[in-house]
Amino acid sequence: MRARALVEESREAVVVLDDQDRVVLASRRARQTVEGIREGARAPAALLTGGLGVVPLVVPYEVDGRTERLVYLSREGDLAAYEELRAGFTAAVSHELRTPLARLLTLLETAALPGEDVLGLVEQAQREVEQITELIDEILFLSELESGARVVALGPTAVRPVLEEALAELRERAERAGVELRLECEPDLTVRVRPRMLRVIALNLAENAIRYAGSGAAFTLSVTRAPDGSIVLSGRDNGIGVEEAELPRLFERFYRSDRARASRGTGLGLAIVKHVVTQAGGHVEARGGRGEGLEIRCAFPG
Ligand SMILES: Nc1ncnc2c1ncn2[C@@H]1O[C@H](COP(=O)(O)OP(=O)(O)OP(=O)(O)O)[C@@H](O)[C@H]1O
Ligand SMILES: [Mg+2]
Repeated sequence: MRARALVEESREAVVVLDDQDRVVLASRRARQTVEGIREGARAPAALLTGGLGVVPLVVPYEVDGRTERLVYLSREGDLAAYEELRAGFTAAVSHELRTPLARLLTLLETAALPGEDVLGLVEQAQREVEQITELIDEILFLSELESGARVVALGPTAVRPVLEEALAELRERAERAGVELRLECEPDLTVRVRPRMLRVIALNLAENAIRYAGSGAAFTLSVTRAPDGSIVLSGRDNGIGVEEAELPRLFERFYRSDRARASRGTGLGLAIVKHVVTQAGGHVEARGGRGEGLEIRCAFPG
């Protein structure tokens, strides 16, 4: 009885499951957080697998010879990621915003001097503001993801049409950069990721190839079903690549290789890709080396 009250009145989202995955007890918070939790009924399957944007912490124990499990549910992003977000991210954001803002201020100060090319300076100032806006959009999108916004689709998404459309949007820019875009994907492949999120991944990988691979390079977006049933989305190019030692760092927020510093970009693209993929229960990996092109592999559970 005391245990029941403890669980039910807990401010945490807590569920007790029996050995058949049926809900024995659930706190009010858990019922509010996750749909489909009812005492005596089977717990939603995604509850224990980390789907639903919820990270479960499972504590098994024995009672009267039966195994029960105490499951603590936290929204993804509530835990370590949130702490990290608060500490490191805020500092990095301020730093990244300060640079274009400082340039903007210099441009405005120069424009106020007599005899300056005001029109030209205003144009440059506009570009700085565009870059700031882009940065803020990316930061907002990233924090939306971190707070557990839904990445996983309820039903399966047909992959090919989404990727086709994303690449079509970039075709002109790719031509200007001298980078060829290719797509290799069976028409009937599906994945449980929202179309918008799939699009974000495709656009980020292709944009990177257009920006960094170098003229004459080819970028191939391919999607295949691995023998274990997982779906692997790979974006690879045969361009300049990065040093092997840099590969694991590419997914860090604001990380840009020295070579990229001259170009526009904030270093958030691949961090966003990683978040989308991990929230869908998958993982990312970078392969390649200097002069060997770059491949970003995203594996999704089948
Ligand atoms: N295809 C590629 N070839 C070579 N280097 C790459 C490639 N893709 C990414 N990089 C390197 O990885 C860094 C991080 O990429 P990421 O997409 O995260 O950020 P960004 O492109 O610099 O900025 P953003 O995507 O936020 O506009 C890039 O700055 C670049 O140095
Ligand atoms: Mg990028």
